[in-house]
Amino acid sequence: MDRFLFVAFAAVLVSSPAGAQQDSVARGERNFRVCAACHSLEPDRNMTGPSLANLWGRKAASLPSFDRYSDALKASGIIWDDRSLDAWLTDPARMVPDNEMPFEGIDDSRVRADLLAFLKEATKPGAAPERTAENRMNGGGMMGGMMSGGRAPNLKNLNPAQRVTGMTHCRDTYRVTTADGKTRPFWERNLRLKTDSSEDGPQSGAPAIVSAGMMGDRADVIFAAPNEISKTIEDHC
Ligand code: HEC
Repeated sequence: MDRFLFVAFAAVLVSSPAGAQQDSVARGERNFRVCAACHSLEPDRNMTGPSLANLWGRKAASLPSFDRYSDALKASGIIWDDRSLDAWLTDPARMVPDNEMPFEGIDDSRVRADLLAFLKEATKPGAAPERTAENRMNGGGMMGGMMSGGRAPNLKNLNPAQRVTGMTHCRDTYRVTTADGKTRPFWERNLRLKTDSSEDGPQSGAPAIVSAGMMGDRADVIFAAPNEISKTIEDHC
């Protein structure tokens, strides 16, 4: 994140003499946290929403790597620029009725202006933060949570506490065994079974367990593909 800020700042320092502009970018970077839950700034890194890399001049709903655009956004004919983005962020549903971005809009024009000042720098070609080893691993045990700065951790290189070696289901309980030799029980409604087939997903045959929620009683088990789910879980007590 620090590096990211630095890149955004460096870009502004060259392009703008005014300190006020830098303040605006810094505030916009903070405002972007709301968006970061759904949007990455790295090219083709899609989450709930499409990557915002190289946004200016892009046609709406045109990213080939994003499979979940609404028909409404596809048919909108919008080209993203200062004006269209300001209207979109003011009230997405008004600008494109039936779009599927779950976001109400931002009333305050100052807040929008800051956000756009930041986005304009951060979405320029080459501005995206590099994927460091730290980003990829997101170390720690199971508590290395899902949402570090809005990005999902890479699950290819798991530590033993995160690598699932076996799972059973008995009555209302899953028991999850990990490569460190521990077995933990979960009420079945507290364990989510997910897949991640992207390059960030786990290796085939090595599902990951990631803690979810604050109490330690909930977790996600993430598989490389749907067909691994029932193969992994043995139904016995
Ligand atoms: C809860 C998830 C979510 C949040 C929060 C969110 N978005 Fe989105 N966003 C989406 C989805 C989903 C779409 C695709 C909508 C569609 O196809 O109708 C989208 C689409 C977009 C697009 C159009 C991209 C394209 O390729 O045409 C832009 C620009 C955008 N969002 C910017 C933002 C900004 C800036 C914020 C923060 C103020 C934000 N979004 C907050 C989920 C989200």
